[in-house]
Amino acid sequence: MDATDPAAPRARMIHYSGYLREARDFYATPAWVTERLLDHIRLRGTVWEPCCGDGAMARVLQARGYAVVASDIADRGFGTPGMDFLTATAFPAGCGAMVTNPPYGEADAMAGKPRSSSAMQRFLRHALALTKAADGQLALLVRLQWIAGQRAAAIMSAAPFAKVIVLRDRITWFDRGAETKRAQHHHAWVVFDHHHPPGTPPAMLYG
Ligand SMILES: C[S@@+](CC[C@H](N)C(=O)[O-])C[C@H]1O[C@@H](n2cnc3c(N)ncnc32)[C@H](O)[C@@H]1O
Repeated sequence: MDATDPAAPRARMIHYSGYLREARDFYATPAWVTERLLDHIRLRGTVWEPCCGDGAMARVLQARGYAVVASDIADRGFGTPGMDFLTATAFPAGCGAMVTNPPYGEADAMAGKPRSSSAMQRFLRHALALTKAADGQLALLVRLQWIAGQRAAAIMSAAPFAKVIVLRDRITWFDRGAETKRAQHHHAWVVFDHHHPPGTPPAMLYG
């Protein structure tokens, strides 16, 4: 099955029992999700995927012709392991954009796991600070409802918020075989860009 085929939006799934064996919130993003981001933006320079997991997003970026620096705190067989994003002090050399999904709160199976909004905000604040220092771009995949939160709104309104790309299809993160259900939540890409003209509101697009 072609995971980039819009008609097969839930084609790339990992097995739920695999999730239970994993630590640190690992779940792979179906390829179509990253494809829809790249249908709407052009990234500058090499792209950093700092929470790359098994490379699900990074591979799509590479397939679209981007050079990618991939890292992760864990070793999942892709990119450079042992790199804690929260302790990074700058984008890697040559990188002008960062694309990832924050490792908190994006999957139904995260119930009972560390998914606090404060952790998400910490991640976002750090990502925005690094992006500012690089005069770069930042694309984060988030739960759509998360955007509406007061603290998220405050953080994003103070940043160069350029685009929100709302995914019309819902993401299925885990394959539970015959019991696989459509995800309850919609997701969106939020894009920040330090080349976005000041005072210009973000564009809202559908992906
Ligand atoms: C939800 S998975 C996403 C993987 C990949 N971005 C994708 O979309 O398929 C989150 C990843 O973030 C990694 N991670 C969690 N905390 C991290 C940190 N502080 N620094 C770097 N990676 C981290 C986890 O090891 C995991 O591989």
